[in-house]
Amino acid sequence: MEITSSSCNKSKILVFGGTGYFGKHVVRASASFSHPTFVFVRPGTPQMPPSSLQLRGEFRSLGVTLVQGELEEHEKMISVLKQVDIVISVLPVSAIPDQIKIIDAIIAAGNIERFLPSEFGCEEDRITPLPPFEALRRRRRKSGAAYFINLLLHPHDPRPDLVVYGTGEAKAVLNWEQDIAKYTIKVANDPRTRNRVVIYRLPGNIISQNELISSWERKTGRRFEKVHVQEDELIKLSQSLPSPDNIAVSIMHSLFVKEDLMSFDLDEDDLEASCLYPEIEYTTMDQLLDIFLVDPPEPARAALE
Ligand SMILES: NC(=O)c1ccc[n+]([C@@H]2O[C@H](COP(=O)([O-])OP(=O)(O)OC[C@H]3O[C@@H](n4cnc5c(N)ncnc54)[C@H](OP(=O)(O)O)[C@@H]3O)[C@@H](O)[C@H]2O)c1
Repeated sequence: MEITSSSCNKSKILVFGGTGYFGKHVVRASASFSHPTFVFVRPGTPQMPPSSLQLRGEFRSLGVTLVQGELEEHEKMISVLKQVDIVISVLPVSAIPDQIKIIDAIIAAGNIERFLPSEFGCEEDRITPLPPFEALRRRRRKSGAAYFINLLLHPHDPRPDLVVYGTGEAKAVLNWEQDIAKYTIKVANDPRTRNRVVIYRLPGNIISQNELISSWERKTGRRFEKVHVQEDELIKLSQSLPSPDNIAVSIMHSLFVKEDLMSFDLDEDDLEASCLYPEIEYTTMDQLLDIFLVDPPEPARAALE
């Protein structure tokens, strides 16, 4: 990254998992805030899809430094860590235990000011999800993503009926990944958030499935048949489906039936992202649906397909 007057005083950020679904937004946000940005990526393979090559090209064009390596390469990680101030992990759930290798290298490097682990999910101490999700939740925190709007509405591939989990009345918070990424870069640089959980309960993004579908019907001018999958059916599926489908069903139950993202009140000790950073104009649900109308995201696989 070219060192400009706007970037020379900024903290240097290293991202693990930066080529992933969520990670790419974190890398873009870091570069857009003029932080000298590094991404630790696994070496490319001949089977690597063109989209991954494209993403790496995009990062280079943004001035991002790509460092090829594996999490097992302790010495290589230390040498990269010595060049940065802040480390953000956006590794997938399956690789979360491997974060210990990053922590070992951070301790050995000795210069890192801040490490944000990959804990993007529900507020773990305040929810009681079904067992398949419960097994994961101790490692996850914070927010719901627009990914679920894609799962629920299929904007890329309109269909006559839509699955509704439970009654459709429970409220969830569904934020656009690009906004979560911007807040994450702010959080990483903010001493107020050290060793704290930050909750991304953006007021314009609190919505039930029924409200979401009504809004989508207004915008598309179409009517959709709602196919309800009730709570007892979801509980049975969480017990009978193989992994990872049982986890997907349990997450849908937690978000859209138990209302786990909204089931607790925030008190004065809680840090909420939109209150901490009022200067960020986040994308509201209404604006996001307008975007999805003209530029639908790539299809996501729904839990009950
Ligand atoms: N709350 C929500 O609504 C929500 C929604 C989505 C995600 N999330 C959370 O966001 C975080 C990231 O999830 P994601 O869906 O973005 O993950 P993802 O798309 O699967 O991202 C995987 C990334 O991690 C890298 N990676 C995977 N396994 C690795 C390994 N063993 N060693 C090194 N690198 C490895 C991949 O690198 P390669 O390019 O080399 O494969 C890629 O960059 C997770 O904590 C997830 O729970 C939360």
